[in-house]
Amino acid sequence: MCGIVGYVGKNQAAPILLDGLAKLEYRGYDSAGIANIVDGKIEINKAKGKLAVLSDLVDGGSKIDSTIGIGHTRWATHGKPSDENSHPHMAEGGKFAIVHNGIIENYIELKANLVASGVQFKSETDSEVVAHLLEKHYEGDLLAAVKKTVEHLEGSYALGIVCTDYPDRFVAVRRSSPLIVGISDEGNFVASDIPAILAYTRKIYHLNDGDIVDLYADSVKIYDSELNPVMKQVEVVTWDVKAAEKGGYDCFMHKEIEEQPRALHDTISPRIDEQGKIVLDGVNLTKEDIEKCDKIYIVACGSAYHVGIVGKYTIEKLTRKPVEVDLASEFRYRDPIVNENTLMIIISQSGETADTLAALKEGKRMGARILSIVNVVGSSIANESDDVLYTWAGPEIAVATTKAYSTQLSMIYLIALYMADKLGMISEEELRSNLSALLDVPNLVEEIIKKNDPIVRELAEKYKEIDHAYYLGRNLDYAVAMEASLKLKEVSYVHSEAYAAGELKHGTISLIEQDTLVVALASCSKVLEKTLSNIEEVKSRGALVLTLTSEGNTAVESVSDHVIYLPKTKEMFMPSLEVVPMQMLGYYMAIARGCDVDKPRNLAKSVTVE
Ligand code: F6R
Repeated sequence: MCGIVGYVGKNQAAPILLDGLAKLEYRGYDSAGIANIVDGKIEINKAKGKLAVLSDLVDGGSKIDSTIGIGHTRWATHGKPSDENSHPHMAEGGKFAIVHNGIIENYIELKANLVASGVQFKSETDSEVVAHLLEKHYEGDLLAAVKKTVEHLEGSYALGIVCTDYPDRFVAVRRSSPLIVGISDEGNFVASDIPAILAYTRKIYHLNDGDIVDLYADSVKIYDSELNPVMKQVEVVTWDVKAAEKGGYDCFMHKEIEEQPRALHDTISPRIDEQGKIVLDGVNLTKEDIEKCDKIYIVACGSAYHVGIVGKYTIEKLTRKPVEVDLASEFRYRDPIVNENTLMIIISQSGETADTLAALKEGKRMGARILSIVNVVGSSIANESDDVLYTWAGPEIAVATTKAYSTQLSMIYLIALYMADKLGMISEEELRSNLSALLDVPNLVEEIIKKNDPIVRELAEKYKEIDHAYYLGRNLDYAVAMEASLKLKEVSYVHSEAYAAGELKHGTISLIEQDTLVVALASCSKVLEKTLSNIEEVKSRGALVLTLTSEGNTAVESVSDHVIYLPKTKEMFMPSLEVVPMQMLGYYMAIARGCDVDKPRNLAKSVTVE
């Protein structure tokens, strides 16, 4: 996730910006840059790689003679990590420089218009449009130009803007991306997060969506999006620095669970246009390509493999194309049947998992077309693929995946619907209604987190002494059961297994005894009665049953000790809702059992060895 710092004050700006960016390193980044106004001109220094590379380039900022500047650490989304794609970005005339955190969803259209009017772009980023739009709309009034520019932007953004006509002030804007203002006698700041400025001040303003901030060395003015002045209360930060780096959360897994509504929104909404059509940027799959494809393999590891199981159910149902899901470590050595009519969907958060990368290369060698779903821009898997779809989850730091899994799921739904649409297997009306439900998933996830946080915490306290847990489900519920079980075992060290609910009686039911925890996922209406019978089977053998189901399925109450009801949505999207309380259960169980949630024993975030 990008990080922004801005400063104007009595002191040299560059060292303050570099220090602030260092405090934002925890957010993850692949390049960094700063812009300062020096002798009436904008000086930009930026570099791919660690902050130390930039710091060395500018001698820790000591030689940049300026008391104003904006800084940025970039987590690549649009365009690979490179010097050119690093922020700040400058308008052609050199009057404006900007830093941006977020995603400008309509940048393709904005860029096309700017290019048509003769503007030359220097980077592949979505952000650069902002610098050029500012120049276009500037008629001598900085705030008016900012207002006009942001009126054209769709998506999420936190912006820092400097303009050579005003060497004593800079402007910042916030919409759906984090940004706070810090005030002190030595100068004023903006930052993506509190740690960046905690060494200088504890006095901050929180901003509302749409707020525009005008910062001088000795004053800060805040306006709403219509440029009406806004009065804010100063808040005093009492957190310690360590807590602040996690945005006030106790650990990254918790933070990342709660970031899911934002991550889902950023991944889904830019892929649905105003006409209600799916736009898969980076994918060149035509109707003919899809018709030609006679087999789809989904290949991945761990949680990403569990996304693949949802993919199998969903793609087969919507397109009637056969889908096989393979663990990458198996696929690469098992002589699979692949040819030029095979589409291989590779799923990976890191884009560097050794087995997944090797399976991709094997599939490619055998003639398959490779479509990958990846979170890290410019990663090896992305580079090796024919088509890449990025999940815009932002950097995932906790070892146990949460927001990457959820955004991968949403990409799978979009791919399935896209293919069905291209093949003419879904009506316009059905597609529209599915997409409208998908767009609502981030809101439902937010609702689930809010409602269930105290409930799941209490359940974890109750269950914290257990040694074993069994997760049951049928159909899509089974796919989620696998992920739910992994979430529990990897962070809380409780032994757990997932079973297709109908399979338990073929052996494993012998392990069910008094107070064995069974978590039943029971949302698929087609098989609800069957799942209820399976729950009954374990209940009558003494199991302690926690059931997850959709609102209205009250029949589950008679066979459950606890029920978590989830809001209704299209059944296809239920995995996106079900997984959230399951991630929370893993997390709260780990906390209750005193485990190191973010770094479970023996695990690494990116598995780059076989
Ligand atoms: C579990 C988890 C892992 C990863 C797996 C694949 O919480 O995070 O199972 O899903 O190691 O990693 P990527 O997606 O980076 O290929």
